Amino acid sequence: MSSLLKEVIFNKLGKDEEVPYELLLLADPSKIMIEKYLAQSDIFVAKKNEKTVGVVTLIPISNDEMEIKSIAVKPELQGQGIGSFLLENIDKIAVQRSHKSLIIGTANSSIGQLYLYQKHGFEITGLRKNFFLDNYNIPIFEHGIRSKHMIILKKNIHKA
Ligand code: ACO
Repeated sequence: MSSLLKEVIFNKLGKDEEVPYELLLLADPSKIMIEKYLAQSDIFVAKKNEKTVGVVTLIPISNDEMEIKSIAVKPELQGQGIGSFLLENIDKIAVQRSHKSLIIGTANSSIGQLYLYQKHGFEITGLRKNFFLDNYNIPIFEHGIRSKHMIILKKNIHKA
Protein backbone atom coordinates (compact mmCIF):
# COMPACT_ATOMS: atom_id res chain seq x y z
CA MET A 1 0.00 0.00 0.00
CA SER A 2 1.32 3.45 -0.95
CA SER A 3 1.97 5.97 1.83
CA LEU A 4 -0.85 8.13 0.40
CA LEU A 5 -3.39 5.31 0.78
CA LYS A 6 -2.35 4.66 4.41
CA GLU A 7 -3.78 8.12 5.20
CA VAL A 8 -7.04 7.67 3.28
CA ILE A 9 -10.21 6.57 5.06
CA PHE A 10 -13.56 5.47 3.63
CA ASN A 11 -16.84 6.63 5.22
CA LYS A 12 -20.48 7.15 4.49
CA LEU A 13 -21.11 10.88 3.96
CA GLY A 14 -22.58 12.30 7.18
CA LYS A 15 -26.10 13.81 7.06
CA ASP A 16 -24.70 17.24 7.97
CA GLU A 17 -21.79 17.06 5.51
CA GLU A 18 -21.79 18.85 2.16
CA VAL A 19 -22.31 16.77 -0.97
CA PRO A 20 -19.02 16.98 -2.94
CA TYR A 21 -20.59 18.21 -6.18
CA GLU A 22 -17.25 19.31 -7.65
CA LEU A 23 -16.17 15.65 -7.58
CA LEU A 24 -19.51 14.27 -8.77
CA LEU A 25 -19.34 16.65 -11.74
CA LEU A 26 -16.07 15.01 -12.80
CA ALA A 27 -17.92 11.73 -13.24
CA ASP A 28 -21.02 13.29 -14.82
CA PRO A 29 -20.93 16.80 -16.30
CA SER A 30 -24.70 17.26 -15.87
CA LYS A 31 -25.93 18.46 -12.48
CA ILE A 32 -29.47 17.63 -13.63
CA MET A 33 -28.47 13.98 -14.16
CA ILE A 34 -26.68 13.94 -10.78
CA GLU A 35 -29.73 15.32 -8.97
CA LYS A 36 -31.87 12.58 -10.56
CA TYR A 37 -29.97 9.78 -8.87
CA LEU A 38 -28.65 11.52 -5.75
CA ALA A 39 -31.90 11.46 -3.78
CA GLN A 40 -31.98 7.63 -3.92
CA SER A 41 -28.21 7.14 -3.49
CA ASP A 42 -25.91 6.26 -0.65
CA ILE A 43 -22.90 8.55 -0.82
CA PHE A 44 -19.51 7.35 0.40
CA VAL A 45 -16.35 9.41 0.50
CA ALA A 46 -12.63 8.87 0.74
CA LYS A 47 -10.95 11.39 3.04
CA LYS A 48 -7.35 12.36 3.60
CA ASN A 49 -6.57 14.62 6.54
CA GLU A 50 -10.35 15.17 6.91
CA LYS A 51 -10.59 16.53 3.33
CA THR A 52 -12.73 14.72 0.78
CA VAL A 53 -10.54 13.30 -1.99
CA GLY A 54 -12.92 10.79 -3.59
CA VAL A 55 -16.60 9.93 -3.83
CA VAL A 56 -18.85 7.06 -4.87
CA THR A 57 -22.63 6.94 -5.10
CA LEU A 58 -24.50 3.66 -4.90
CA ILE A 59 -28.09 2.73 -5.69
CA PRO A 60 -29.64 -0.66 -4.96
CA ILE A 61 -31.39 -1.87 -8.12
CA SER A 62 -32.88 -4.94 -6.46
CA ASN A 63 -32.20 -7.12 -3.39
CA ASP A 64 -29.43 -8.78 -5.40
CA GLU A 65 -27.85 -5.94 -7.29
CA MET A 66 -26.37 -2.50 -6.70
CA GLU A 67 -25.30 0.12 -9.25
CA ILE A 68 -22.29 2.39 -8.88
CA LYS A 69 -23.80 5.58 -10.27
CA SER A 70 -20.62 7.63 -9.92
CA ILE A 71 -17.03 7.37 -8.82
CA ALA A 72 -14.53 10.22 -8.83
CA VAL A 73 -11.19 11.22 -7.35
CA LYS A 74 -9.79 14.72 -6.90
CA PRO A 75 -7.85 15.48 -10.12
CA GLU A 76 -4.47 16.12 -8.49
CA LEU A 77 -4.65 12.76 -6.67
CA GLN A 78 -5.82 10.61 -9.58
CA GLY A 79 -3.60 7.74 -10.70
CA GLN A 80 -2.38 6.98 -7.17
CA GLY A 81 -4.72 4.14 -6.27
CA ILE A 82 -7.65 5.98 -4.65
CA GLY A 83 -10.09 4.87 -7.38
CA SER A 84 -9.06 1.24 -6.81
CA PHE A 85 -9.37 1.77 -3.04
CA LEU A 86 -12.95 3.04 -3.58
CA LEU A 87 -13.81 0.02 -5.76
CA GLU A 88 -12.42 -2.38 -3.12
CA ASN A 89 -14.54 -0.71 -0.44
CA ILE A 90 -17.63 -0.90 -2.65
CA ASP A 91 -17.04 -4.67 -2.91
CA LYS A 92 -17.06 -4.85 0.91
CA ILE A 93 -20.35 -2.92 1.10
CA ALA A 94 -21.89 -5.24 -1.49
CA VAL A 95 -20.83 -8.27 0.61
CA GLN A 96 -22.22 -6.68 3.81
CA ARG A 97 -25.52 -6.01 2.04
CA SER A 98 -25.62 -9.54 0.56
CA HIS A 99 -25.75 -8.25 -3.00
CA LYS A 100 -24.84 -10.78 -5.66
CA SER A 101 -23.61 -8.33 -8.26
CA LEU A 102 -22.50 -4.80 -8.97
CA ILE A 103 -23.25 -2.77 -12.09
CA ILE A 104 -21.38 0.21 -13.47
CA GLY A 105 -21.94 2.19 -16.65
CA THR A 106 -19.47 4.38 -18.50
CA ALA A 107 -19.15 6.02 -21.90
CA ASN A 108 -17.79 4.26 -24.97
CA SER A 109 -15.09 6.99 -24.96
CA SER A 110 -13.99 6.43 -21.33
CA ILE A 111 -11.00 4.26 -22.22
CA GLY A 112 -9.18 4.55 -18.86
CA GLN A 113 -12.35 3.87 -16.88
CA LEU A 114 -13.16 0.79 -19.01
CA TYR A 115 -9.63 -0.45 -18.30
CA LEU A 116 -9.96 0.22 -14.54
CA TYR A 117 -13.35 -1.49 -14.16
CA GLN A 118 -12.32 -4.59 -16.14
CA LYS A 119 -9.10 -4.77 -14.12
CA HIS A 120 -11.33 -4.86 -11.02
CA GLY A 121 -13.36 -7.82 -12.30
CA PHE A 122 -16.20 -6.12 -14.16
CA GLU A 123 -17.26 -7.60 -17.51
CA ILE A 124 -19.09 -5.84 -20.31
CA THR A 125 -22.68 -7.09 -20.39
CA GLY A 126 -24.61 -4.49 -22.31
CA LEU A 127 -25.04 -1.17 -24.01
CA ARG A 128 -27.47 1.70 -23.43
CA LYS A 129 -27.42 2.83 -27.05
CA ASN A 130 -27.32 6.61 -27.67
CA PHE A 131 -27.54 7.27 -23.90
CA PHE A 132 -25.27 10.33 -24.06
CA LEU A 133 -26.83 11.64 -27.27
CA ASP A 134 -30.33 11.35 -25.80
CA ASN A 135 -29.64 12.68 -22.27
CA TYR A 136 -27.04 15.44 -22.67
CA ASN A 137 -27.49 18.77 -24.49
CA ILE A 138 -23.79 19.35 -25.04
CA PRO A 139 -21.61 16.96 -27.09
CA ILE A 140 -19.05 15.18 -24.90
CA PHE A 141 -15.69 14.06 -26.29
CA GLU A 142 -12.88 12.08 -24.62
CA HIS A 143 -9.63 11.18 -26.38
CA GLY A 144 -11.17 12.67 -29.53
CA ILE A 145 -14.01 10.12 -29.38
CA ARG A 146 -17.66 11.26 -29.13
CA SER A 147 -19.41 9.87 -26.05
CA LYS A 148 -22.51 8.27 -27.57
CA HIS A 149 -23.34 5.04 -25.80
CA MET A 150 -23.16 3.83 -22.21
CA ILE A 151 -21.26 0.57 -21.81
CA ILE A 152 -22.69 -1.52 -18.95
CA LEU A 153 -20.32 -3.67 -16.93
CA LYS A 154 -21.19 -6.18 -14.25
CA LYS A 155 -19.24 -7.92 -11.50
CA ASN A 156 -20.37 -10.93 -9.50
CA ILE A 157 -19.73 -10.59 -5.79
CA HIS A 158 -18.22 -13.50 -3.92
CA LYS A 159 -18.10 -13.67 -0.16
CA ALA A 160 -14.50 -13.93 1.10
N1 ACO B 1 -7.29 7.15 -17.92
C1 ACO B 1 -6.29 6.23 -17.98
N2 ACO B 1 -6.05 5.30 -17.01
C2 ACO B 1 -6.84 5.35 -15.93
C3 ACO B 1 -7.90 6.29 -15.77
C4 ACO B 1 -8.10 7.22 -16.83
N3 ACO B 1 -9.09 8.14 -16.78
N4 ACO B 1 -8.50 6.06 -14.59
C5 ACO B 1 -7.85 5.03 -14.02
N5 ACO B 1 -6.86 4.59 -14.83
C6 ACO B 1 -5.93 3.49 -14.58
C7 ACO B 1 -4.69 3.94 -13.83
O1 ACO B 1 -3.67 4.34 -14.72
C8 ACO B 1 -4.31 2.70 -13.06
O2 ACO B 1 -3.62 1.77 -13.87
P1 ACO B 1 -2.51 0.76 -13.24
O3 ACO B 1 -3.19 0.09 -12.04
O4 ACO B 1 -2.22 -0.17 -14.35
O5 ACO B 1 -1.40 1.66 -12.81
C9 ACO B 1 -5.65 2.07 -12.73
O6 ACO B 1 -6.58 2.59 -13.69
C10 ACO B 1 -6.09 2.37 -11.32
O7 ACO B 1 -6.13 3.74 -11.15
P2 ACO B 1 -6.37 4.42 -9.73
O8 ACO B 1 -5.21 5.31 -9.41
O9 ACO B 1 -6.79 3.44 -8.70
O10 ACO B 1 -7.65 5.30 -10.10
P3 ACO B 1 -7.89 6.85 -9.79
O11 ACO B 1 -7.59 7.16 -8.38
O12 ACO B 1 -7.28 7.70 -10.82
O13 ACO B 1 -9.48 6.89 -9.96
C11 ACO B 1 -11.18 7.49 -11.52
C12 ACO B 1 -10.07 6.49 -11.18
C13 ACO B 1 -12.22 7.47 -10.41
C14 ACO B 1 -11.83 7.06 -12.84
C15 ACO B 1 -10.51 8.90 -11.62
O14 ACO B 1 -9.54 8.89 -12.64
C16 ACO B 1 -11.50 10.02 -11.87
O15 ACO B 1 -12.04 10.59 -10.93
N6 ACO B 1 -11.73 10.36 -13.15
C17 ACO B 1 -12.64 11.46 -13.48
C18 ACO B 1 -14.09 11.09 -13.17
C19 ACO B 1 -14.54 9.84 -13.90
O16 ACO B 1 -14.26 9.67 -15.09
N7 ACO B 1 -15.24 8.96 -13.18
C20 ACO B 1 -15.82 7.74 -13.74
C21 ACO B 1 -16.99 8.02 -14.60
S1 ACO B 1 -18.03 6.57 -14.82
C22 ACO B 1 -18.92 6.50 -13.38
O17 ACO B 1 -18.80 7.34 -12.55
C23 ACO B 1 -19.84 5.35 -13.15
